[in-house]
Amino acid sequence: MIRFTGIRWWRQFALALGCLMLVIACNNTAPNSTDAGSSPSGAGSNPAAAGKTLKVATDPTFAPFEFQGPDGQIQGFDIDIINSIGKAEGFQVDLESMRFDGMIGALQAGSVDTAMAGVTITPERAKVIDFSKPYFKAGLAIAVPEKNTDITDLDSLKNKKIAVQIGTTSADEAKKVSGAKISTFDSPDLVLQEVVNGNADAAINDKAVTLYAFKTGSLKGLKLVGEQLTAEYYGIPTPKGSENLESINRGLDTIIKDGTYAQIYKKWFDEEPPKLPETAPI
Ligand code: ARG
Repeated sequence: MIRFTGIRWWRQFALALGCLMLVIACNNTAPNSTDAGSSPSGAGSNPAAAGKTLKVATDPTFAPFEFQGPDGQIQGFDIDIINSIGKAEGFQVDLESMRFDGMIGALQAGSVDTAMAGVTITPERAKVIDFSKPYFKAGLAIAVPEKNTDITDLDSLKNKKIAVQIGTTSADEAKKVSGAKISTFDSPDLVLQEVVNGNADAAINDKAVTLYAFKTGSLKGLKLVGEQLTAEYYGIPTPKGSENLESINRGLDTIIKDGTYAQIYKKWFDEEPPKLPETAPI
């Protein structure tokens, strides 16, 4: 009698133990599968980027997008945007300064997670790196000495001396001009200075950067001519197939919807932002 009861007791105990282990096993997998997208604010809900520190390449020679303030801190429109996206998605930003012409290579090599550097979405770049949806509407423009009257558009730059920043879409644009003597520099300021010094006939740069240089009075005696040469969109690049891209895109959506984007845009450009397309028409 007693022995029989003992066996039953052990059987029931083993069964109960088995059930308990099953419950524990199920519970263990639960947080991972339900965490994504379940946090109340949506913040930090991406298991790919949340809680991480993303290494963000930048070339802080490009005011007002990225530049060093008087205190040496890197600031600008791009910096505010990536910090806000990081806040929305729960990742930290670790800025790494580098030359612009080395940035696409650094992304391809995976030595940085992303870049904030007014990087134009182009078909050539899109072959080797991925881009977020557009976050800024941009375009190139020609700057010449105020007194100049013969340079009015890209065609009139034939056989002239053109200064550009190395590795940029401006450098690509200058190459289209027949007979042009192109000189390349590490920053848009040096590019514009070359024209001020009379060593180049014209500079091609991102229009917003040249206008900001005029506005802050850092360069005197220049003017913009003609139409904007190109319609470009800046994107936030990542290495191909990066798991962080989804998080970056969602964070960008969040800050556009909640008004943070417009606030940052007005802070740097004194106007309402234009509507951005879902994809860059490249
Ligand atoms: N938008 C241009 C390009 O993508 C120039 C960007 C230069 N950016 C910089 N931080 N220096 O080629």
